[in-house]
Amino acid sequence: MTSAAQKIFERPAFLRRYEKRVHGRFLSSFAHQKMNYESIYSDLLALAPRPASAGRGPKDAPPANPIADPPASPPVSPPAKALIVDLGCGTGWFARRLATDPALAESAIVGLDVSPAAIEVARELARSVPKPHAALRFAVANAEDLAEHTAEPAAEIWLCGALHQMSRPELALEQVAGALGPDGVMYCQTFCENPDLVARVDIKVLSWFGHRVFARGELDAMAEKAGLVIVAEQLRGLVLLAAFKRRRHS
Ligand SMILES: C[S@@+](CC[C@H](N)C(=O)[O-])C[C@H]1O[C@@H](n2cnc3c(N)ncnc32)[C@H](O)[C@@H]1O
Repeated sequence: MTSAAQKIFERPAFLRRYEKRVHGRFLSSFAHQKMNYESIYSDLLALAPRPASAGRGPKDAPPANPIADPPASPPVSPPAKALIVDLGCGTGWFARRLATDPALAESAIVGLDVSPAAIEVARELARSVPKPHAALRFAVANAEDLAEHTAEPAAEIWLCGALHQMSRPELALEQVAGALGPDGVMYCQTFCENPDLVARVDIKVLSWFGHRVFARGELDAMAEKAGLVIVAEQLRGLVLLAAFKRRRHS
């Protein structure tokens, strides 16, 4: 069944207003604090289990909040010519931001979304990027078919604002686990219950839009089943920012 949010994301007029007029206000109201694209980008990078992000996050990044085995590998940047996927990219803000990041100059950035209208607008907006450093392209694709769009292992997958509106998030996570390289990181912004909040009304509103609010254990279990583990996270209101890695087999 198509949710309200999925229907809205097929309307070009809405999509063209989305980044400036909708995104920040919508998320800030459920995070109970100001949030916008740039803050999500830098806060997610600050969660990286290793500064995959050398030179990419804010200068005084807050320390990561590791909640699982930190990886043993020393700090490194994503390899040159790394594949980076913006999954459920919508109008492509994250893909454009990644493409203008000098530290990713050699990377290939791919934005994927199931909505053809969103991809059309993403391509339109990408034409206005003055000097992209990295190669940037967009394609219509369902997250459940990610393997068809990742010929090589991905160094990073950005899954922002999308997991909670996917009809089968568990399949999307399985695909992410299959597409990430061994040191790859998935940066995710989604909705998750907050034990410190009574948020029945917020959760009802989100569910009307077709946005699921994951129970905490539910997301962990889904990740584990898919072969992923959350390595660092921040919960703001109902908005979860989390970094995932592939689970190491013992
Ligand atoms: C709220 S938008 C977020 C877009 C963008 N990541 C951002 O943060 O602005 C969610 C997007 O997920 C896409 N989406 C939903 N289900 C999907 C699926 N199964 N595969 C790929 N994209 C999906 C929708 O079409 C929509 O563009």
